[in-house]
Amino acid sequence: MPLISGNWKMNHHHFEAIQFIQKLAYLLQKQDFDEVEVSVHPPFTDLRSLQTLIDADQLRFKLGAQNCHSDDKGAFTGEISPVFLAKLGVQYVIVGHSERREMFGETDDFVAQKVASVLKHGMFPILCVGETLAEHESGLTLDKVRRQVRAGLDKRSSDQVKSMVIAYEPIWAIGTGKNASPDQAQEVAAAIREEVATLISRPAAEAIRIQYGGSVKAGTIADIMRLPDVDGVLVGGASLDPTEFARIVQYRHHSG
Ligand code: PGA
Repeated sequence: MPLISGNWKMNHHHFEAIQFIQKLAYLLQKQDFDEVEVSVHPPFTDLRSLQTLIDADQLRFKLGAQNCHSDDKGAFTGEISPVFLAKLGVQYVIVGHSERREMFGETDDFVAQKVASVLKHGMFPILCVGETLAEHESGLTLDKVRRQVRAGLDKRSSDQVKSMVIAYEPIWAIGTGKNASPDQAQEVAAAIREEVATLISRPAAEAIRIQYGGSVKAGTIADIMRLPDVDGVLVGGASLDPTEFARIVQYRHHSG
């Protein structure tokens, strides 16, 4: 099933988060959840409120996080353990988002440790990969993305990789209003799948879900979801407004 994920980044405090989910639940129908899986990734401070609401109202959203540490516990001031996320009913954890890599210095190694740890605690990583504008313009996109995939999946078993998600997010398309062309998104998604087949196994490459991310909007999602190797989207800015996000989830039924 396609996975549509809303990455709120550092937006919406917990009161706003509750209002958002109530509005979104009102806008979506049962059929929408039968057709697509929807995960929301609020800031950490919203998770407990949303978990309670989702449980109480039996909503079908999957709770997601935007990051976590790789260790279960210890002297890591300000960090959040994957154990805490699992206890809150979090199912999907974004790992290695380009904002974490570029602004907070997360290395491929650290990202790989987080992937391992999220899986160890029974959650599913959404491993983010993608090239900078300079890499894009120098024709280095596939090299960069393949390297990030190899690093992120290092030592993972075929069964583990089957449950994972890889989000291809060209950094120059994030929050800029620019999209990779459908041809480019398909080329990179196909290359990611091939890399998984070579590195892990063919069944893992077939099962893993690949998302596209970078300025996805209600008007652009349909063209992306048509691509054979794209199984979902990771949405930032357009996931902050319940009406727009509902239209994204209902992409099959709107022209844009
Ligand atoms: P955007 O963000 O949709 O605002 O470009 C996507 C992301 O960073 O996950």
